[in-house]
Amino acid sequence: MAAIKTIGILTSGGDAPGMNAAIRAVTRSAIFSGFKVKGIYRGYKGLIDDEIVDFHTQNVSNIIQQGGTILKTARSKEFPTPEGHQQAYDNMKKEGIDALVVIGGDGSLTGARQFASEYDVPIIGLPGTIDNDLYGTDHTIGYDTALNTIMWCVDRIRDTATSHERLFFIEVMGRNAGFLALNGAIASGAEAAIIPEISTEVDQLAELIQNGFRKTKNSSIVLVAESPITGGAMGLAERVRKEYPQYDVRVTILGHLQRGGSPTAQDRILASRMGSAAIDALLEGQRNVMIGDANDEIVYVPFSKAIKNDKPIDCDLLNILRRLSI
Ligand code: F6P
Repeated sequence: MAAIKTIGILTSGGDAPGMNAAIRAVTRSAIFSGFKVKGIYRGYKGLIDDEIVDFHTQNVSNIIQQGGTILKTARSKEFPTPEGHQQAYDNMKKEGIDALVVIGGDGSLTGARQFASEYDVPIIGLPGTIDNDLYGTDHTIGYDTALNTIMWCVDRIRDTATSHERLFFIEVMGRNAGFLALNGAIASGAEAAIIPEISTEVDQLAELIQNGFRKTKNSSIVLVAESPITGGAMGLAERVRKEYPQYDVRVTILGHLQRGGSPTAQDRILASRMGSAAIDALLEGQRNVMIGDANDEIVYVPFSKAIKNDKPIDCDLLNILRRLSI
């Protein structure tokens, strides 16, 4: 493998709070270790369109506290094509970029894996997504901030739910994973969480209501993970209106609120550790791995594992939620 002199960095897919902290950490660790850094705008799209600029330490000043990504992000349809890969590779060569650090979620790391299987490009991935759905890492960058945002919102909804004695279904993001819904429910003291991981086995709504749901309470909050499997908050509310008309039901979809905001301390620290670890990984000759955290230790997770395996959800959390919502 040729010596790495210049590292390109990009953010891709859905943005997540803490991506800027990660960009800062990668840039500064790389410069500290003697590499040159180039910032690639708009993810893989910018690699194809040659939207690439030199990055110095001052390019990443004053960004650790900002949500979103200063590099912008995009989902590129062109990149996965043979022409897209070729164009991206040609631009890397033209710009003298020898290795890439890709910050993003499942789709972004899938893109990295495919690219690296066709071209001799060392790539290190950082898990940047609010969904927390990447296998091999306990946390993804942005997850903790989104969880705190959900908690903040649910606290407010609870005030009005209690005043009106209503049943609220609050839909949260997560793509096909229930981490935000389940831990958001525990953190906000919600009565239940409806998540895709167990929806195929039981009718969670019937179970919820038949188990004496609201026996002791006037208002109730149920967090619902967005997913065709759960039916989403709208679908569940419709069902309750038909099957249990005694409930006064309302729906709130938190949507992209969950993606914004200044990252929490935990996300900033995680992003700083992972960004720094990405450069260590390249110095050690690693390639095509995602940086993860497992039991508070930094680990290298091959792309094939991070994206292929479904990350299991801890069912004990569901039991805790049930126990605490009586
Ligand atoms: O992967 C992050 C995420 O916010 C998911 O939770 C959600 O399903 C999706 O992105 C929304 O994507 P978009 O911003 O393109 O609507």
